[in-house]
Parts: sequence; C-alpha cells; structure tokens
Amino acid sequence: MTEQINQSEILFERAKKVLPGGISRNTIFKLPHPDYVEKGEGCIVTDINGKEYIDFANNMASLIHGHAHPVITRAIIEQVSKGTAFTMASEVEIEFAELLCSRVPGFEKIRFVNSGTEAVMAMIKSARAFTGKAKIAKVEGAYHGAYDYAEVSQTANPNNWGDEDKPNSVPVAVGTPEKALDDVIVIPYNNTKKALEILNQHQGEIAAVLLDPVSHRVGMVAAEDEFVEALYKWTREQQALLLFDEVITFRVGFGGAQQRYKVSPDLTAMGKMIGGGFPVGAFAGRSDVMSVLDPLQPKVLLPHSGTFSANPVTMVAGLTAMKLFDHKAIEKINLLALKTKVLISHSIEKVGIKACVTGEGAMLRVHFKSQAPTNYRQSFLNEDEAKALKIVLTHANEQGIMLINTCSMMLSTVMTINEIEKLVQVLEQGFELVAKQLPSFKRYR
Ligand SMILES: Cc1ncc(COP(=O)(O)O)c(C=O)c1O
Repeated sequence: MTEQINQSEILFERAKKVLPGGISRNTIFKLPHPDYVEKGEGCIVTDINGKEYIDFANNMASLIHGHAHPVITRAIIEQVSKGTAFTMASEVEIEFAELLCSRVPGFEKIRFVNSGTEAVMAMIKSARAFTGKAKIAKVEGAYHGAYDYAEVSQTANPNNWGDEDKPNSVPVAVGTPEKALDDVIVIPYNNTKKALEILNQHQGEIAAVLLDPVSHRVGMVAAEDEFVEALYKWTREQQALLLFDEVITFRVGFGGAQQRYKVSPDLTAMGKMIGGGFPVGAFAGRSDVMSVLDPLQPKVLLPHSGTFSANPVTMVAGLTAMKLFDHKAIEKINLLALKTKVLISHSIEKVGIKACVTGEGAMLRVHFKSQAPTNYRQSFLNEDEAKALKIVLTHANEQGIMLINTCSMMLSTVMTINEIEKLVQVLEQGFELVAKQLPSFKRYR
C-alpha cells in the first residue's frame, strides 16, 4: 500500500523559507505543521489532504454563520463585481452604521476600521483625546489585540505577575516602551474591592477603564454586575470613560454582552463576526466622545483614517451577516450552546475527571480544573493541565473536530444538534484519554 503524501507537511516546508515560522499569525501554528485549508462550506472545513472537520473555531469566533453562507456569498460577489475599494464613501457604510446603532441604545455614533486591534486602539486614543489623560486600566490577562497598551499583562505568568493585590504591568513583547507599561494599570477581574483600591491610587490620571465583559483568556466567565457597576461609577467620579471590548462578545446577544448590565459603556469596540467573514473592526458610543474624530469640528482632537476602513466588500458582508443574526437566530444558537454546555458537563461527570465548562451565549470553554475559574490567575494552566488540554486537542483534531486551542468552541448558526452530539462524543473520548494517561485528573479514585 502506498503511503498518502501529507500536503500540509510539504506546504509547511515551503512556507518556512519565506514566512517566519512558516506562518502569518501564531494562532494557527502547531507542530509538526499547521493544517492547510482547501475549502469551507457551512460548518464543515476540508483541509488540503481532503480531511473534513466540523468547525468549532470559526476563524477565532469571526464567522457566526459558518463558511460560504449562500446569502452572504451572493451579496459579496455582487459587490466585488462593482469594485472593492474606493477613495469615496459608500451608501452601504451608512446602512451598516444605522443597523449597528439601532441595536444598542448607547451607540450614538460609530466608526469602522479593519480589525479588532485597530478598533481597541482607536477607542483608547479617542478616550485619551476626550479626557486629555494618558493612562488606561485593564484587567489582568485580558486579550485586546496587539496595541502596545492594550496587550500589557496579556501573557503574565506566575513568575512575573507579582502580588495579586497589585498586579504587575507585564509586557508581551521584548522592547515594549517602559512608558507604555507605566501608563497601563492592571486590575484583577471581578474583584471589585481590590480593583477600586488600585484605581484609587491613580486618581486624576486615568482616561479609561477597558473591560471585555466575557474575556476568553480570563476564563470565559461574565463580568459580575457589581464589578461593572463599580467601574462605571468610578469612571463617572473620575471624569474617565468605561470602554468595553466586544470584539468577540458582541455575538452573545442582539445588543452584545453589554445588554445584560444596568449601566452602559461610553464606547464599545467590535470586530470579528460583524465583518461577515472579512477583516473588520468598529467602535461606537457616545456622540460627544466620538466627536473627537469629527472633521466638522473646529479642531479635530484625533485625526483618524485607514485606507481600507469601511471598504464596501466588508460593509456588504457585515451588513448581510448581521441582518441574518436576528433575534430568532440568536435565540436558536444560544439555546444550542446551552444544550452543549449541559451535555459536556454530563460527559465530565460520567468520565469523572477534574474539568468544567464555562461560557456565555454561543461561546464555550472547557477547563481542566474542578471549579470554574473566576479570574486570569485561576484560569492559568499549570503543567499538568496543559498536558490534559493537549491530549484533548490532539484527539479532537484527529477525529475531525476543530477547536480553539484553549479548548474553546464558538458555535455557528448553521450547526444542529448532530454536530453537537459528535463534538460531545469526541470530547468524552478525550476526557477518557486524560483519565487514563493522567490519573491525577480522576475525580473519583
Ligand atoms: C477580545 C478581543 N479583542 C481584540 C481582538 C483583536 O482582534 P483582531 O485579531 O481582529 O485584531 C481580539 C482577537 O482575538 C479579541 O479576542
């Protein structure tokens, strides 16, 4: 029998000669080689070797309707045939802005950019321009993209994160300016008392507090009402702003994850799924704050542009995708996610391993811990937990289940209970492998 040639292996060898590490983004890196895509349709992705996967990663939560959705595809093709980018504004940009602003009461004005990173960056710069202050505060471990300030402490670990009562500002990249670290105040998640104590040490200096209301890296647990309300109140008292990063979490509800709170952020960053599969970012909120961008003002406090911002292809794709993501679709996908959570929890119980599942809306994350973490330090993986994670991820990949590499799942609206049952079956097999290979994970011994 002839051995099948692995096309991904061949492509990776070629890629390493021209791309650092053979890749353009670390997210998809894995050894012995990344998987290379051939095509996607609905919730199925086929790799270059012809192997099929049920896609629970959805390009890191950016595809809410799966791949090549026929309605979105038709709309894109029509726009592409008319041109893709112009030194002109477009009507579809206004229509998309109207649609997003109509979904969230606090969205008085919106500006489009090209990625979540850019949205968070421009939102922070807007807050600085509005308040005239430089510092921001953010939650330890929260991921907000690659802006120097937003990424502080994103990869903090037990060797450098310091005292829990006063977390260090830890750089991600070597060479990060000290000034950037000094200008980012790190607060612990969902710990109102400690967070306020830290913030109070910087009264008068902070432009904004940045918060992801269900941060993936911090454990995928929702920010508590008390925490959000306290940050809101503190920012009012301090003439500072409350900024939400809803780049992932906007999928949680019709008006994003923020709709569940009594208070609203001043500005919100979005990205990922609002682009209908194309690169996108946006930030929206209070009209008076957004006026820092307004060229109709006598003085523009934050001059801001972007060559591909609001290009009509992204606008058409995003508008079509978000129209399809209506109340009915959201209710359906969130219910399916709830069922998934229950089924995964049953499997964990049945196998009897130390694991649990967290998540909101159609996002879920399995932790190899007995109890759901409530902050970054608790969700941080020790060596054994990292081994357990690897066992499950490897098994899932072999069995054609594509997960995000934290063992997280982002459902899409085209999924049915059939895909969920397959997912749960494969995860359960993975849990059994963990119990067998790492006996310390057995709950009942
Ligand atoms: C919460 C959050 N904010 C910002 C970003 C950055 O978005 P992008 O990768 O589009 O730059 C991400 C990306 O994963 C994210 O998860």
